[in-house]
Amino acid sequence: MSIPHIINFPKIVDSRGNLSFLEGINHIPFQIIRTYWIYDVPGGETRGGHAYKENEELIIALSGSFDVELDNGNNKYMFHLNRSYYGLYVPKMYWREMNNFSTNSLALILASTEYNTNDYIRDYNQFIAKTKTDKGSG
Ligand code: TYD
Repeated sequence: MSIPHIINFPKIVDSRGNLSFLEGINHIPFQIIRTYWIYDVPGGETRGGHAYKENEELIIALSGSFDVELDNGNNKYMFHLNRSYYGLYVPKMYWREMNNFSTNSLALILASTEYNTNDYIRDYNQFIAKTKTDKGSG
């Protein structure tokens, strides 16, 4: 079963400035179909507040820092992302919230599906109900 975890990207340390990279086929546990990024987040704002039925994601703090809270109905996870060479893998069916964005933070997100409003669960109680039915159906 997949659980949220940090993926470490290569880091080429150089006195001229460091370089990191990712290769979909070597570093990401899904095929990348879409990328989006979140920026100019005003202090105190929260992003997310939903789960995806099918979409899996990888979240990178390219600049600055923020927290990602994850919940699969049984376990809660909290990750503080503050390095551009870490990626947080988020499986499908995790309720997520992103908060505590630092000034000028930049979140890059790689996603396994196209944008699809029908893939979102925006009601926490509905999300919990679905985790129970999914479990029941084996
Ligand atoms: P949403 O996923 O709700 O943002 P967050 O979870 O970060 O708070 O998306 C916000 C808006 O952006 C919503 O109107 C849908 C739109 N959107 C797209 O059009 N394409 C995308 O790939 C994403 C992620 C969002």
